[in-house]
Amino acid sequence: MDLMEAIKGRRSIRKYKPDPIPEEALQKIMEAVQWSPSWANTQCWEVIVVKEPKVKSELASTLIKTNPALSSMIEAPIVIVLCGKKGISGFKKGEAATVKGDWLMFDTGIAMQTLCLTAHSLGLGTVVVGLFDHKRVEEILGVSQNAEVVAMTPLGYPAVEGTTPKRKDFSEFVFYDRYPGK
Ligand SMILES: Cc1cc2nc3c(=O)[nH]c(=O)nc-3n(C[C@H](O)[C@H](O)[C@H](O)COP(=O)(O)O)c2cc1C
Repeated sequence: MDLMEAIKGRRSIRKYKPDPIPEEALQKIMEAVQWSPSWANTQCWEVIVVKEPKVKSELASTLIKTNPALSSMIEAPIVIVLCGKKGISGFKKGEAATVKGDWLMFDTGIAMQTLCLTAHSLGLGTVVVGLFDHKRVEEILGVSQNAEVVAMTPLGYPAVEGTTPKRKDFSEFVFYDRYPGK
């Protein structure tokens, strides 16, 4: 698949078929995460692949009822939970190297996009889920104190095509030489 085709064609998928995911496809997706860029190659990401229906239901229960991704967490055969190890990305000798502090959100964000694009290229759907009770998910999965849960995504074969939300025009976010207004 052409890169631009993958970037523009990937949609958030919120309805899934129950069909299982071939192990090779899952391995490819993990390989894509493995090769994502990160601060000084620190690779702070950690991935929990959840297949057990009971655990998927528990994870789904951490979303508020109005979250449109709620049912997809149960429908999809797999839920991927993306965590980040704290105090590594953006740090030099234990000290934050920039005013931004920990860059784990940034590095795991890149990894998530790489994961979603790779899944899409394999005919699989994803939807990044960020609105849930992170502390409860950490308890359910027994995530270590040194790490935090960032986002989750169902992973499976799409049962419907996703709708395409409108994007901003370049004029609204691309500026030349200075920030607008200066
Ligand atoms: C950080 C982040 C958090 C998100 N959280 C949710 C969520 O909790 N529930 C949901 O249904 N979609 C969620 N989304 C998906 C967005 O709504 C979606 O990406 C956006 O509307 C654009 O649609 P598209 O992905 O089809 O291009 C999230 C996306 C991102 C990047």
